[in-house]
Amino acid sequence: MSLLKLLIFLAQCGVAKAGPGKFWHISDLHLDPDYKVSADPLQVCPSAGSQLVSNAGPWGDYLCDSPWVLINSSVYAMKEIEPEPDFILWTGDDTPHVPNEKLGEAAVLKIVERLTKLIREVFPGTKVYAALGNHDFHPKNQFPAGSNNIYNQVAELWRPWLNNESIAPFKEGAFYSEKLLGQSGAGRIVVLNTNLYYSSNEQTASMVDPGQQFQWLEDVLTNASQAGEMVRSPASSPSLSGVAS
Ligand SMILES: *[C@@H]1O[C@H](CO)[C@@H](O)[C@H](O)[C@H]1NC(C)=O
Ligand SMILES: *[C@@H]1O[C@H](CO)[C@@H](O)[C@H](O)[C@H]1NC(C)=O
Ligand SMILES: *[C@@H]1O[C@H](CO)[C@@H](O)[C@H](O)[C@H]1NC(C)=O
Repeated sequence: MSLLKLLIFLAQCGVAKAGPGKFWHISDLHLDPDYKVSADPLQVCPSAGSQLVSNAGPWGDYLCDSPWVLINSSVYAMKEIEPEPDFILWTGDDTPHVPNEKLGEAAVLKIVERLTKLIREVFPGTKVYAALGNHDFHPKNQFPAGSNNIYNQVAELWRPWLNNESIAPFKEGAFYSEKLLGQSGAGRIVVLNTNLYYSSNEQTASMVDPGQQFQWLEDVLTNASQAGEMVRSPASSPSLSGVAS
């Protein structure tokens, strides 16, 4: 059902006529807050479902989502490997692979908050461009096209990372665009809420342009092309593919 899915890598980016830069990309941390080392193979982690987890170790198990100590240790290791990235991309999927009934809005927000605080604690001065993954909503995948409590609360959690002008669009649709920081020349980052197009999202299924995100993107790209800006666009699920995990 769920493998220990911890994808963290250091990416180098170089752009013609500009110096190279460095950024971290964090994705799919999938914290299982209830992971515990237990001799009972059914008591180790809710994220294994009915699978038997034998010989679980303190840092996690292949059948389980990530325990806190593993995520904590990984983020501190990032700091040792590259303490001063130009920025961090964080493309979400923070919660465990468990049924909706085992989560809830408060539980989802709590997990987003814990991970946000960890990243801010370890990289206090670093700009983070963060996006929500399909697991970062309750019920999962069901991202609305307009404002709601989760977009509001997450905008507040991420306020220290967001430009003032990004707060309002985030609260409306969980997408935003900002000038890209770093040494790699002029650029702009467009963080999309691709969950609005995910095939499992019943909230937006019949909408032509949920949240008017496409109209907004067209405006952002038109402006960027007039300003000669290079645009990069991270999102949690590939746009329009309907693939997520
Ligand atoms: C997190 O990692 C740091 C660095 O290794 C360590 O000092 C700290 O005790 C860890 N905290 C937890 C809760 O594991
Ligand atoms: C940020 O936006 C708020 C409300 O839109 C405004 O009152 C405030 O002055 C702005 N702050 C900065 C630093 O631009
Ligand atoms: C595009 O640029 C115009 C003119 O500066 C501005 O009013 C508008 O808000 C911009 N649109 C977006 C989506 O950034």
